[in-house]
Amino acid sequence: MAFLASKRVLSGMRLTGQLHLGHYHGVLQNWVKLQHEYECFFFVADWHALTTHYEDPASIAVTAFDVVVDWLAAGVNPGEATIFIQSRVPEHAELHLLLSMITPLGWLERVPTYKDQIDKLKDKDLSTYGFLGYPLLQSADILIYRAGNVPVGEDQVAHSELAREIARRFNFLYGREPGFEQKAEAAVRKLGSKAAKLYFELRRQYLQHGDREALEKGRALLKAQTIITIGDRERLFGYLEGGGKVILPEPQALLTPVSKMPGLDGEKMSKTYGNTIGLRESAEAVAQKIRTMPTDPARVRRTDPGNPDKCPVWKFHEVYGDERIRDWVQQGCRGASIGCLDCKQPVIDAIQRELAPLRERAQQFIDDPDVVYAIIDQGCERAREVARETLEDVRRVMGLGQR
Ligand code: TRP
Ligand code: SF4
Repeated sequence: MAFLASKRVLSGMRLTGQLHLGHYHGVLQNWVKLQHEYECFFFVADWHALTTHYEDPASIAVTAFDVVVDWLAAGVNPGEATIFIQSRVPEHAELHLLLSMITPLGWLERVPTYKDQIDKLKDKDLSTYGFLGYPLLQSADILIYRAGNVPVGEDQVAHSELAREIARRFNFLYGREPGFEQKAEAAVRKLGSKAAKLYFELRRQYLQHGDREALEKGRALLKAQTIITIGDRERLFGYLEGGGKVILPEPQALLTPVSKMPGLDGEKMSKTYGNTIGLRESAEAVAQKIRTMPTDPARVRRTDPGNPDKCPVWKFHEVYGDERIRDWVQQGCRGASIGCLDCKQPVIDAIQRELAPLRERAQQFIDDPDVVYAIIDQGCERAREVARETLEDVRRVMGLGQR
């Protein structure tokens, strides 16, 4: 049976290649924090990778196994979070298909990343059905878990907005059982006269004046009710918003704080720019990459003063340095009292300190891959249980009968 969008979090990561410090600072640290506060579902979006790499899947050069090892190494805890792989939960695909029936083409064409990516990835032919459906598949990923919260970066906000619109449209089309209004009003009366009066008042304020605060208060009121049936609960949540039953709750985007992790060239760290430091690179490779990274071009000789604002190394100090180190860099660089290699050493040390425990944990999993396979198997099973429940409700209201 359905329940309402809760403190459940769902997030996916597209399979794109070996994970690097940008993922760690941008996404993984956030997940590790969220897993203590929410019921989390994290998955490897391998189907999403195919939407852009269908011609040459091998070019992704990384397996879901590798990605999961990186997550575990970064501290994602399978005891707290459910870790799974999209393609092993085929229910996502069925929901995607069913949602495609009610999705106006214009909604997909309007998603800003659609035209952007087609322009940006000119060497790929993305005039495919799968690529247009990318954000709808993402909506299915989210809605099938009835997740209340979706941590996403700035670039994904339009996608989670589509998930909200699809949920609303779905509930509007299929949430209207015969006699809904009467059933809803009977359910309100069961709340007791005081709560019922407050409910009607909050509903009126929301529907007549669009008062979001009243909507939130109404939801809180319902959440506090312990003795109503699940069916009534859904009706009351739906009726509060003026719609029918809520079958697929609308998710909220939880904006991930923007990571300041620079790449070796000072641009954002990204595989596309080839400026990354991998989470599992050896200590020697990391040191070598930092030693050879560019600095302020004005510092040709050791005696030339430099300007940290023009140097990518400084951006690393902003991430890793404490105040003492940053002062030392500022003065040493501008006064030419330190060399660039001296300046880079604390960055190298800080990255090694950060990566050493990750490497060690990753190695344990690589040495014992069955542990990882078991974590994935259990995660997929758990995810499927939840997904199946939702899908049953969806099939039923869409007239597909029960199995
Ligand atoms: N599109 C997301 C990305 O590129 C990955 C993703 C797929 C996702 N499905 C999702 C993220 C569902 C959040 C929720 O990073
Ligand atoms: Fe960059 Fe440091 Fe060299 Fe200055 S001293 S140019 S900040 S690496």
